[in-house]
Amino acid sequence: MTRNVQEMIKELTLEEKVSLCSGKDFWNTEAIDRLNIPSIMMTDGPHGLRKQEGASDHLGINKSIASTCFPSAAGLACSWDNEMVNKVGEALAEECQSENVSIILGPGANIKRSPLCGRNFEYFSEDPYLSSKLSTSFIKGVQDNGIGTSLKHFAVNNQEYKRMAIDAIVDERTLREIYLASFEGAVKEGKPWSVMSAYNKVNGDYCSENKKLLTDILKEEWEFEGIIVSDWGAVNERADGLDAGLDLEMPSSGGLGEKKILEAIKSGQLSEDKLDEAVERILSIVFKAVDNKKDITYSKEEHHLLAREVARECMVLLKNEDHILPIKKHTSISVIGAFAKSPRFQGGGSSHINPTKVDNVYDEIEKIAGSTIKLDYSDGYLLDSDEIDEQLIQDAVEHAKEAEIAVIFAGLPERYESEGFDRKHLRIPENHRVLIESVAAVQENVIVVLSNGAPVEMPWLNKVKAVLEGYLGGQALGGAIADILFGVISPSGKLAETFPQKLVHNPSYLNFPGNGETVEYREGIFVGYRHYDTRDVEPLFPFGYGLSYTTFEYSDLQVNKKQMKDDECLAVSVKVTNTGDMEGKEVVQLYVKDVDATIPRPEKELKGFKKVFLRSGESTTVEFELDKRAFAYYNVSINDWHVETGAFEILVGKSSREILLKEEIYVESTVSIKKTLNRHSTFGELLEHPIGAEIMKSMGQADFDGSSGLGAGMQEMMMGTSMHNAAIMSNGLFTEEMLDQIIAAVNGTNDN
Ligand code: BGC
Repeated sequence: MTRNVQEMIKELTLEEKVSLCSGKDFWNTEAIDRLNIPSIMMTDGPHGLRKQEGASDHLGINKSIASTCFPSAAGLACSWDNEMVNKVGEALAEECQSENVSIILGPGANIKRSPLCGRNFEYFSEDPYLSSKLSTSFIKGVQDNGIGTSLKHFAVNNQEYKRMAIDAIVDERTLREIYLASFEGAVKEGKPWSVMSAYNKVNGDYCSENKKLLTDILKEEWEFEGIIVSDWGAVNERADGLDAGLDLEMPSSGGLGEKKILEAIKSGQLSEDKLDEAVERILSIVFKAVDNKKDITYSKEEHHLLAREVARECMVLLKNEDHILPIKKHTSISVIGAFAKSPRFQGGGSSHINPTKVDNVYDEIEKIAGSTIKLDYSDGYLLDSDEIDEQLIQDAVEHAKEAEIAVIFAGLPERYESEGFDRKHLRIPENHRVLIESVAAVQENVIVVLSNGAPVEMPWLNKVKAVLEGYLGGQALGGAIADILFGVISPSGKLAETFPQKLVHNPSYLNFPGNGETVEYREGIFVGYRHYDTRDVEPLFPFGYGLSYTTFEYSDLQVNKKQMKDDECLAVSVKVTNTGDMEGKEVVQLYVKDVDATIPRPEKELKGFKKVFLRSGESTTVEFELDKRAFAYYNVSINDWHVETGAFEILVGKSSREILLKEEIYVESTVSIKKTLNRHSTFGELLEHPIGAEIMKSMGQADFDGSSGLGAGMQEMMMGTSMHNAAIMSNGLFTEEMLDQIIAAVNGTNDN
């Protein structure tokens, strides 16, 4: 139905308009019955629907209706599969439609700066390109089915410690290339109905009243047309927030927000136009939701099956010595670890949902193992404590001795990671570690299956034959794990984050989580593999890594040009062949390296990926298209993305550390950045400038360029001397007037 929102705004009283800018209650927007403006509901996700019908909360405490629990974003990202993530979005939209929810609060596009962040399980990656592409697929999957999303938490919300007040201090280049880039692509391509402003401050201003983030960048630069909604209770000063671009305060602040807006408008501190703009955005989304409402039901069983299909695409095979996996028939397996019967399948906090059902991993193994495999089970550890129970370990060891293979289920219990607090270390509970080591001491065929939302250290890695990283696999993880263990499907997940050998190797180690007031992002752009690869720090498992039961060969890397301008596109193609004897999927990764960079740049950056399915012996050609952004960095002197003219390498491979093919091309910038000199510029800088070089010649360049016979060190010192210093120190030989004339000539300002 078409409505004229602007006309509607004219009919609203000031008080009514103000009331629309705050929630009616915890999850619903305000309605104005007089003008048939309805209320819409937004609720959590994002890996399942958390619709509360009774008591409400934002911490995952009270009950919510039953819904399908899919793998959380950390796992979902390891699928590197846009279509799959899109399908999850579609299913979530169906559940929202059937439950009369209009907007699902997600996806989360925050970057995994430190593996310690308690909420990493809810975020996709340490890489902004991967994170923004997957966020886009999620958003489109949901929104193409008539439900809105709320891309969160904008921005730089990378820790839980003091998450509601911490001031993240980030330099502009890092902000743009890492933390905002993850949102930028998703906003521009995905066009979410809403974006949620984070709790924290960025460079001094709360996100909920950060004009630079909300208005200058999000609304104006990225042309975001939806509503900006506050994270729950994230509003600092409501009137300042509205002025800065925050449209909707959620949840209701009991009239406080409204009162502050009214006062500010009446006193002239805030213009009514700002209010009208927010109301227009809110009403447009409310009516969009109404117009897209469908009366549908969904099949819980079908969604459970989808959750299983998705989960098995997300799990990452980290180690597989002697091809112990997939498990062959006619063997005996000792299944060990309480997670096998009480699985850890989702994270804690506001995303915690009430699943329609949960697979028992042991039962699923039993179903697939059938009668040809002998199975037994032992707990191995206590579920809700780290205490080492010698008896449980002893039982597990005895069982393991009797079997041909031991499969141990371990990882992080919910008390180890959640929204609301960060981890302090990367260890799994002591009773899990001791169990693995004790079993490995008596059994040479140990397979460890991990359930955790973020990387863990693995001091026992050399003692076991296989490790399957299951992440938080959602309610159907059991079936998915069984499918992978027994080779119903070949694993195809690839890490979307680096697993460090030790926490101290992480680049944010010394600056996480800050001092309580501020947290300084001193590692700059060198986050995740950008740090490990550039500084050559060997990770435990690199970004992009994951094993398969089959093998893939890459050949015939082609680029459609060897020289290009930065406003052109480069077409890249590569042939991939499944050379093993099982069908499977491969994630082909494309990285770009700036070979001639004169500024610090990462060793390589991900700029393309594709997941392909190939039968045994089959080949396909994977194609990529690279535009300016693939070669650019954020140049703070021009406040824009910029490509430095020079050589670039196109790297194609299976992980950030396993590059198989490369091609070098030359990219020429179409933007010339005029460098201006000032009194404190050096003679070296003067010489680099064409006019400056001429002037230097006339001044006797020989003294500077080394041809007068000065040693190299002395010459470098001369070139590093500032012109101003020379004017003061040269006893009148080089005067201040001469200096000013040179600067004017070089900068082209001598006529002014
Ligand atoms: C979380 C959001 C969530 C909201 C509503 C907040 O505490 O940060 O991610 O959507 O609560 O539950």
